Amino acid sequence: LRPVGIVGTGSCLPERILTNAELEQMVDTSDEWIRSRTGIRERRIASHDTAASDLAVPAAAKALAMAGLPAEAVDLIIVATVTPDTLFPATACLVQERLGARGAAAFDLSAGCSGFIYALAVASQFIAAGVYQTALVIGVEILSKIINWQDRNTCVLFGDGAGAVVLQAVPEGEGVLGLHLGADGNGGSLLSIPAGGSRLPASPSTVQNRLHTIHMNGPEVFKFAVRVMGEASLKALEQAGLRKEEVDFLIPHQANIRIIEAATKRLGLPPEKVYVNLDRYGNMSSASIPVALDEAYREGRLKRGDKVVLVAFGAGLTWGATVLSW
Ligand code: ACO
Repeated sequence: LRPVGIVGTGSCLPERILTNAELEQMVDTSDEWIRSRTGIRERRIASHDTAASDLAVPAAAKALAMAGLPAEAVDLIIVATVTPDTLFPATACLVQERLGARGAAAFDLSAGCSGFIYALAVASQFIAAGVYQTALVIGVEILSKIINWQDRNTCVLFGDGAGAVVLQAVPEGEGVLGLHLGADGNGGSLLSIPAGGSRLPASPSTVQNRLHTIHMNGPEVFKFAVRVMGEASLKALEQAGLRKEEVDFLIPHQANIRIIEAATKRLGLPPEKVYVNLDRYGNMSSASIPVALDEAYREGRLKRGDKVVLVAFGAGLTWGATVLSW
Protein backbone atom coordinates (compact mmCIF):
# COMPACT_ATOMS: atom_id res chain seq x y z
CA LEU A 1 0.00 0.00 0.00
CA ARG A 2 1.19 3.51 -0.83
CA PRO A 3 1.37 6.24 1.84
CA VAL A 4 -1.39 8.84 1.33
CA GLY A 5 -1.31 12.49 2.37
CA ILE A 6 -3.08 15.83 2.13
CA VAL A 7 -1.57 17.98 -0.63
CA GLY A 8 -4.08 20.86 -0.60
CA THR A 9 -6.70 22.40 1.69
CA GLY A 10 -9.47 24.96 1.15
CA SER A 11 -12.52 26.36 2.88
CA CYS A 12 -15.53 28.58 2.27
CA LEU A 13 -17.70 30.30 4.88
CA PRO A 14 -20.83 32.35 4.32
CA GLU A 15 -20.31 36.06 5.03
CA ARG A 16 -23.34 36.57 7.25
CA ILE A 17 -22.45 36.44 10.96
CA LEU A 18 -25.16 35.54 13.50
CA THR A 19 -24.13 36.71 16.99
CA ASN A 20 -25.27 35.49 20.39
CA ALA A 21 -26.84 38.92 20.90
CA GLU A 22 -29.09 38.30 17.89
CA LEU A 23 -30.07 34.86 19.26
CA GLU A 24 -31.09 36.59 22.51
CA GLN A 25 -33.79 38.30 20.44
CA MET A 26 -35.01 35.00 18.96
CA VAL A 27 -35.16 32.56 21.92
CA ASP A 28 -34.92 32.68 25.73
CA THR A 29 -31.13 32.56 26.00
CA SER A 30 -28.17 34.80 26.81
CA ASP A 31 -24.74 35.49 25.43
CA GLU A 32 -23.36 34.53 28.84
CA TRP A 33 -25.13 31.12 28.83
CA ILE A 34 -24.01 30.28 25.30
CA ARG A 35 -20.38 31.32 25.84
CA SER A 36 -19.99 29.61 29.23
CA ARG A 37 -21.76 26.35 28.24
CA THR A 38 -20.40 26.01 24.68
CA GLY A 39 -17.61 28.53 23.95
CA ILE A 40 -19.51 29.86 20.91
CA ARG A 41 -19.64 33.63 20.29
CA GLU A 42 -20.97 33.71 16.72
CA ARG A 43 -21.58 31.49 13.70
CA ARG A 44 -21.92 31.90 9.92
CA ILE A 45 -25.30 31.49 8.27
CA ALA A 46 -25.83 30.90 4.55
CA SER A 47 -28.34 33.00 2.60
CA HIS A 48 -31.72 31.40 1.83
CA ASP A 49 -30.74 30.56 -1.76
CA THR A 50 -27.39 28.89 -0.83
CA ALA A 51 -27.15 25.09 -0.88
CA ALA A 52 -24.31 22.79 0.21
CA SER A 53 -22.71 22.58 -3.25
CA ASP A 54 -22.49 26.40 -3.40
CA LEU A 55 -20.01 26.34 -0.49
CA ALA A 56 -18.40 23.02 -1.43
CA VAL A 57 -17.31 24.11 -4.92
CA PRO A 58 -15.24 27.18 -3.86
CA ALA A 59 -13.69 25.22 -0.95
CA ALA A 60 -12.68 22.43 -3.36
CA ALA A 61 -11.36 24.92 -5.94
CA LYS A 62 -9.09 26.47 -3.26
CA ALA A 63 -7.79 23.05 -2.21
CA LEU A 64 -7.02 22.15 -5.84
CA ALA A 65 -5.29 25.53 -6.34
CA MET A 66 -3.08 24.90 -3.31
CA ALA A 67 -2.22 21.46 -4.68
CA GLY A 68 -1.50 23.02 -8.10
CA LEU A 69 -3.88 20.60 -9.79
CA PRO A 70 -6.58 21.12 -12.43
CA ALA A 71 -10.08 19.75 -11.77
CA GLU A 72 -9.57 17.17 -14.55
CA ALA A 73 -6.90 15.51 -12.39
CA VAL A 74 -9.49 14.44 -9.79
CA ASP A 75 -10.43 10.73 -9.90
CA LEU A 76 -12.74 10.57 -6.89
CA ILE A 77 -14.97 13.05 -5.01
CA ILE A 78 -16.52 12.22 -1.64
CA VAL A 79 -18.78 14.79 -0.01
CA ALA A 80 -19.46 14.22 3.69
CA THR A 81 -22.69 15.96 4.63
CA VAL A 82 -26.01 15.63 6.45
CA THR A 83 -27.39 18.61 4.51
CA PRO A 84 -27.01 17.66 0.83
CA ASP A 85 -28.58 19.92 -1.84
CA THR A 86 -31.09 17.12 -2.49
CA LEU A 87 -31.47 13.51 -1.31
CA PHE A 88 -30.41 12.61 -4.83
CA PRO A 89 -28.52 13.25 -6.99
CA ALA A 90 -25.60 13.24 -4.59
CA THR A 91 -24.04 16.63 -3.84
CA ALA A 92 -20.70 15.10 -4.91
CA CYS A 93 -22.10 14.75 -8.46
CA LEU A 94 -23.18 18.40 -8.48
CA VAL A 95 -19.69 19.40 -7.31
CA GLN A 96 -18.08 17.20 -9.98
CA GLU A 97 -20.08 18.89 -12.74
CA ARG A 98 -19.45 22.43 -11.48
CA LEU A 99 -15.73 21.91 -10.94
CA GLY A 100 -15.34 20.26 -14.33
CA ALA A 101 -13.90 17.07 -12.82
CA ARG A 102 -15.20 15.08 -15.76
CA GLY A 103 -15.30 11.31 -15.25
CA ALA A 104 -14.43 11.39 -11.54
CA ALA A 105 -16.35 8.92 -9.35
CA ALA A 106 -18.57 10.87 -6.95
CA PHE A 107 -20.74 10.03 -3.96
CA ASP A 108 -21.95 11.43 -0.63
CA LEU A 109 -21.20 9.93 2.75
CA SER A 110 -23.40 10.22 5.83
CA ALA A 111 -21.71 9.84 9.22
CA GLY A 112 -22.89 13.00 10.99
CA CYS A 113 -20.13 15.18 12.38
CA SER A 114 -17.63 12.31 11.90
CA GLY A 115 -18.36 12.43 8.15
CA PHE A 116 -15.13 14.13 7.13
CA ILE A 117 -12.95 11.63 9.04
CA TYR A 118 -14.93 8.72 7.54
CA ALA A 119 -14.61 10.19 4.02
CA LEU A 120 -10.88 10.81 4.48
CA ALA A 121 -10.46 7.18 5.55
CA VAL A 122 -12.46 5.83 2.59
CA ALA A 123 -10.72 8.01 -0.02
CA SER A 124 -7.27 7.14 1.40
CA GLN A 125 -7.90 3.45 0.72
CA PHE A 126 -8.36 4.08 -3.01
CA ILE A 127 -5.14 6.07 -3.22
CA ALA A 128 -3.19 3.63 -1.01
CA ALA A 129 -4.29 0.70 -3.19
CA GLY A 130 -3.25 2.55 -6.36
CA VAL A 131 -6.81 2.49 -7.77
CA TYR A 132 -6.88 6.31 -7.97
CA GLN A 133 -4.19 9.02 -8.01
CA THR A 134 -6.12 12.06 -6.77
CA ALA A 135 -9.13 12.32 -4.47
CA LEU A 136 -11.12 15.31 -3.28
CA VAL A 137 -12.72 15.00 0.18
CA ILE A 138 -15.18 17.69 1.18
CA GLY A 139 -17.07 18.32 4.43
CA VAL A 140 -19.96 20.73 3.96
CA GLU A 141 -23.05 21.68 5.94
CA ILE A 142 -25.89 24.18 5.74
CA LEU A 143 -27.19 23.29 9.19
CA SER A 144 -29.09 26.59 9.47
CA LYS A 145 -31.72 25.08 7.18
CA ILE A 146 -32.40 22.04 9.41
CA ILE A 147 -32.47 23.88 12.73
CA ASN A 148 -35.62 24.57 14.71
CA TRP A 149 -35.01 28.27 15.35
CA GLN A 150 -37.46 28.15 18.26
CA ASP A 151 -35.52 25.44 20.13
CA ARG A 152 -32.90 27.07 22.35
CA ASN A 153 -31.38 23.65 23.12
CA THR A 154 -30.09 23.34 19.55
CA CYS A 155 -30.34 26.61 17.62
CA VAL A 156 -27.45 28.27 19.46
CA LEU A 157 -24.99 25.48 18.62
CA PHE A 158 -24.69 25.20 14.84
CA GLY A 159 -23.31 27.06 11.83
CA ASP A 160 -22.70 26.70 8.07
CA GLY A 161 -19.48 26.17 6.12
CA ALA A 162 -17.36 23.96 3.86
CA GLY A 163 -13.82 22.60 3.93
CA ALA A 164 -11.98 20.43 1.41
CA VAL A 165 -8.73 18.51 1.06
CA VAL A 166 -6.92 16.92 -1.88
CA LEU A 167 -5.32 13.52 -1.30
CA GLN A 168 -2.47 11.96 -3.24
CA ALA A 169 0.30 9.43 -2.71
CA VAL A 170 3.19 10.92 -0.68
CA PRO A 171 6.73 9.78 0.26
CA GLU A 172 7.15 6.97 2.82
CA GLY A 173 6.68 8.13 6.44
CA GLU A 174 4.45 11.08 5.48
CA GLY A 175 0.66 11.49 5.38
CA VAL A 176 -1.87 9.26 7.12
CA LEU A 177 -0.09 7.16 9.76
CA GLY A 178 -3.11 5.77 11.60
CA LEU A 179 -6.88 5.84 11.68
CA HIS A 180 -9.73 4.54 13.74
CA LEU A 181 -13.45 4.58 12.93
CA GLY A 182 -16.36 3.35 15.03
CA ALA A 183 -20.12 3.46 15.45
CA ASP A 184 -22.79 2.63 18.02
CA GLY A 185 -26.19 2.57 16.36
CA ASN A 186 -27.78 2.04 19.77
CA GLY A 187 -27.38 5.80 20.33
CA GLY A 188 -29.00 6.74 17.03
CA SER A 189 -32.03 8.41 18.58
CA LEU A 190 -29.87 10.78 20.66
CA LEU A 191 -29.19 12.91 17.61
CA SER A 192 -31.41 12.75 14.55
CA ILE A 193 -33.71 14.33 11.98
CA PRO A 194 -36.75 12.09 12.40
CA ALA A 195 -38.63 12.82 9.15
CA GLY A 196 -37.94 13.19 5.46
CA GLY A 197 -36.70 9.66 4.84
CA SER A 198 -38.55 6.42 4.12
CA ARG A 199 -39.52 5.97 7.80
CA LEU A 200 -41.48 9.21 8.04
CA PRO A 201 -41.84 10.79 4.61
CA ALA A 202 -42.59 14.50 4.42
CA SER A 203 -46.22 15.29 5.12
CA PRO A 204 -48.10 18.30 6.49
CA SER A 205 -47.96 16.78 10.00
CA THR A 206 -44.19 16.13 9.93
CA VAL A 207 -43.71 19.74 8.88
CA GLN A 208 -46.11 21.03 11.52
CA ASN A 209 -44.35 18.99 14.22
CA ARG A 210 -40.92 20.21 13.04
CA LEU A 211 -39.69 16.66 12.50
CA HIS A 212 -37.40 17.84 9.68
CA THR A 213 -35.16 19.63 12.17
CA ILE A 214 -32.34 18.47 14.46
CA HIS A 215 -33.52 16.62 17.57
CA MET A 216 -30.82 16.14 20.18
CA ASN A 217 -30.38 14.86 23.71
CA GLY A 218 -27.57 17.31 24.54
CA PRO A 219 -26.37 15.92 27.90
CA GLU A 220 -26.20 12.31 26.61
CA VAL A 221 -24.33 13.35 23.45
CA PHE A 222 -22.01 15.39 25.67
CA LYS A 223 -21.10 12.37 27.85
CA PHE A 224 -20.57 10.17 24.80
CA ALA A 225 -18.38 12.81 23.13
CA VAL A 226 -16.14 13.31 26.16
CA ARG A 227 -15.50 9.56 26.37
CA VAL A 228 -15.03 8.83 22.70
CA MET A 229 -12.84 11.76 21.62
CA GLY A 230 -9.97 10.66 23.85
CA GLU A 231 -10.45 6.93 23.18
CA ALA A 232 -10.59 7.30 19.38
CA SER A 233 -7.47 9.51 19.36
CA LEU A 234 -5.54 6.99 21.45
CA LYS A 235 -6.58 4.10 19.17
CA ALA A 236 -5.49 5.98 16.03
CA LEU A 237 -2.18 6.86 17.73
CA GLU A 238 -1.65 3.22 18.66
CA GLN A 239 -2.20 2.22 15.03
CA ALA A 240 0.31 4.88 13.98
CA GLY A 241 2.84 3.50 16.48
CA LEU A 242 2.98 6.85 18.29
CA ARG A 243 2.64 7.80 21.96
CA LYS A 244 0.39 10.69 23.01
CA GLU A 245 3.51 12.60 24.08
CA GLU A 246 4.53 12.71 20.41
CA VAL A 247 1.42 14.62 19.27
CA ASP A 248 2.28 18.12 17.98
CA PHE A 249 -1.21 19.35 17.17
CA LEU A 250 -4.83 18.36 17.80
CA ILE A 251 -7.69 19.40 15.53
CA PRO A 252 -10.86 18.21 17.25
CA HIS A 253 -14.44 18.42 16.00
CA GLN A 254 -15.69 21.85 17.07
CA ALA A 255 -18.91 21.15 19.00
CA ASN A 256 -18.36 22.46 22.51
CA ILE A 257 -15.28 23.94 24.20
CA ARG A 258 -15.85 21.75 27.28
CA ILE A 259 -15.75 18.59 25.13
CA ILE A 260 -12.54 19.84 23.48
CA GLU A 261 -10.98 20.60 26.88
CA ALA A 262 -11.81 17.10 28.12
CA ALA A 263 -10.18 15.50 25.05
CA THR A 264 -7.16 17.78 25.40
CA LYS A 265 -6.76 16.75 29.03
CA ARG A 266 -7.06 13.06 28.18
CA LEU A 267 -4.21 13.44 25.66
CA GLY A 268 -2.19 15.58 28.10
CA LEU A 269 -1.78 18.41 25.59
CA PRO A 270 -1.21 22.10 26.41
CA PRO A 271 -3.90 24.45 24.98
CA GLU A 272 -1.52 25.97 22.41
CA LYS A 273 -1.34 22.61 20.63
CA VAL A 274 -5.10 22.50 20.08
CA TYR A 275 -6.94 24.32 17.32
CA VAL A 276 -10.19 26.03 18.30
CA ASN A 277 -12.40 28.10 16.01
CA LEU A 278 -15.84 27.20 17.35
CA ASP A 279 -16.02 30.62 19.01
CA ARG A 280 -16.33 32.07 15.47
CA TYR A 281 -18.21 29.31 13.64
CA GLY A 282 -20.10 27.10 16.12
CA ASN A 283 -20.55 23.44 15.22
CA MET A 284 -20.38 22.98 11.43
CA SER A 285 -20.68 19.19 11.67
CA SER A 286 -18.61 17.52 8.92
CA ALA A 287 -17.19 20.90 7.82
CA SER A 288 -15.64 21.69 11.21
CA ILE A 289 -12.43 19.70 10.88
CA PRO A 290 -11.51 20.53 7.24
CA VAL A 291 -12.19 24.25 7.86
CA ALA A 292 -10.04 24.15 11.02
CA LEU A 293 -7.29 22.26 9.17
CA ASP A 294 -7.28 24.81 6.34
CA GLU A 295 -7.16 27.76 8.75
CA ALA A 296 -4.49 26.18 10.94
CA TYR A 297 -2.29 25.57 7.90
CA ARG A 298 -2.81 29.01 6.37
CA GLU A 299 -2.09 30.65 9.76
CA GLY A 300 1.27 28.83 9.89
CA ARG A 301 0.27 26.73 12.92
CA LEU A 302 1.26 23.45 11.22
CA LYS A 303 4.90 22.69 10.47
CA ARG A 304 6.13 20.06 8.04
CA GLY A 305 6.53 16.74 9.84
CA ASP A 306 4.17 17.68 12.69
CA LYS A 307 2.18 14.75 14.03
CA VAL A 308 -1.43 15.93 13.83
CA VAL A 309 -4.49 14.20 15.30
CA LEU A 310 -7.93 14.86 13.77
CA VAL A 311 -10.81 13.51 15.88
CA ALA A 312 -14.59 13.71 15.66
CA PHE A 313 -17.86 12.31 17.01
CA GLY A 314 -21.36 12.66 15.67
CA ALA A 315 -24.79 11.37 14.79
CA GLY A 316 -25.07 7.64 14.31
CA LEU A 317 -23.56 7.58 16.82
CA THR A 318 -20.20 7.59 15.08
CA TRP A 319 -16.62 8.52 15.87
CA GLY A 320 -13.33 8.66 14.02
CA ALA A 321 -9.72 9.76 14.39
CA THR A 322 -6.79 10.11 12.02
CA VAL A 323 -3.10 10.67 12.74
CA LEU A 324 -1.17 12.54 10.05
CA SER A 325 2.45 13.41 9.57
CA TRP A 326 1.88 16.85 8.04
N1 ACO B 1 -29.96 29.22 26.65
C1 ACO B 1 -30.32 29.16 27.94
N2 ACO B 1 -30.62 28.03 28.58
C2 ACO B 1 -30.54 26.90 27.89
C3 ACO B 1 -30.19 26.88 26.53
C4 ACO B 1 -29.88 28.09 25.92
N3 ACO B 1 -29.52 28.19 24.62
N4 ACO B 1 -30.19 25.61 26.11
C5 ACO B 1 -30.54 24.85 27.14
N5 ACO B 1 -30.77 25.63 28.21
C6 ACO B 1 -31.20 25.22 29.55
C7 ACO B 1 -31.88 23.90 29.56
O1 ACO B 1 -33.22 24.02 29.22
C8 ACO B 1 -31.67 23.46 31.01
O2 ACO B 1 -32.64 24.10 31.79
P1 ACO B 1 -33.44 23.29 32.93
O3 ACO B 1 -32.36 22.79 33.86
O4 ACO B 1 -34.34 24.32 33.50
O5 ACO B 1 -34.14 22.17 32.19
C9 ACO B 1 -30.33 24.10 31.38
O6 ACO B 1 -30.06 25.08 30.38
C10 ACO B 1 -29.20 23.11 31.43
O7 ACO B 1 -29.24 22.33 30.27
P2 ACO B 1 -28.23 21.18 30.02
O8 ACO B 1 -28.64 20.51 28.77
O9 ACO B 1 -28.03 20.40 31.27
O10 ACO B 1 -26.89 22.02 29.76
P3 ACO B 1 -25.49 21.45 29.43
O11 ACO B 1 -24.51 22.01 30.36
O12 ACO B 1 -25.51 19.98 29.22
O13 ACO B 1 -25.21 22.12 28.00
C11 ACO B 1 -25.25 21.58 25.68
C12 ACO B 1 -26.07 21.89 26.93
C13 ACO B 1 -24.40 22.79 25.37
C14 ACO B 1 -26.23 21.31 24.54
C15 ACO B 1 -24.37 20.36 25.95
O14 ACO B 1 -25.14 19.32 26.47
C16 ACO B 1 -23.66 19.89 24.72
O15 ACO B 1 -22.81 20.56 24.17
N6 ACO B 1 -23.96 18.65 24.29
C17 ACO B 1 -23.33 18.09 23.13
C18 ACO B 1 -24.02 18.60 21.92
C19 ACO B 1 -23.21 18.26 20.70
O16 ACO B 1 -22.02 18.32 20.70
N7 ACO B 1 -23.87 17.92 19.65
C20 ACO B 1 -23.13 17.53 18.52
C21 ACO B 1 -23.97 17.43 17.42
S1 ACO B 1 -23.06 16.49 16.31
C22 ACO B 1 -23.91 16.17 14.90
O17 ACO B 1 -23.74 15.11 14.35
C23 ACO B 1 -24.88 17.26 14.36
